[in-house]
Amino acid sequence: MTEKRPETAPETSNAEDFTLREATLRDAATLDALWQAAGLTRPFNDSRQDIGFALSGPASTILLLEREGHIGASVMVGYDGHRGTVYYVSADPGLRHLGLGTRIMRAAEDWLTARGVWKLNLMIRPENEGVRRFYETLGYEVEERIVMSRRLGD
Ligand SMILES: CC(C)(COP(=O)(O)OP(=O)(O)OC[C@H]1O[C@@H](n2cnc3c(N)ncnc32)[C@H](O)[C@@H]1OP(=O)(O)O)[C@@H](O)C(=O)NCCC(=O)NCCS
Repeated sequence: MTEKRPETAPETSNAEDFTLREATLRDAATLDALWQAAGLTRPFNDSRQDIGFALSGPASTILLLEREGHIGASVMVGYDGHRGTVYYVSADPGLRHLGLGTRIMRAAEDWLTARGVWKLNLMIRPENEGVRRFYETLGYEVEERIVMSRRLGD
């Protein structure tokens, strides 16, 4: 699989210069490269499969902020009939602290609110604990829960 690296970041210091839109399958290579650059990909998760699945139905999507063909931030957002969830929250490493992360998270919240969802859960990997501050700035709180999972079909 050939990976497309994110193109050179546009000259800007304002998150409002970026346009919000929903991703399509044509964005897959660029999204994958952004997520790799943001340290979010893992060998046990097939991000291309994740992109295809998120874009395949009405309960989930991928939102992105774009300027001059360059994706500055993205979020995968969806709901399961009860809660909303976000994954792959990411801003281009060359465009951090401009407010892109905040804007894409608010866009995910708006997307869920428009569909009647009133609570958003998200997970932070233990090795990425520092990002807690980002979410706290946005009003998120830690809830003590144990997250369990099983890969179905195994
Ligand atoms: C988290 C992330 C999306 C934030 O993007 P961003 O565009 O820089 O965020 P904003 O500019 O909107 O930041 C708003 C505030 O949140 C805090 N913040 C942002 N990123 C932070 C981080 N990585 N750690 C701690 N606090 C952070 C800061 O207080 C920041 O304000 P400041 O710029 O005045 O310091 C970006 O750092 C990223 O892609 N990180 C790697 C991927 C990741 O860890 N995603 C989350 C997975 S759970």
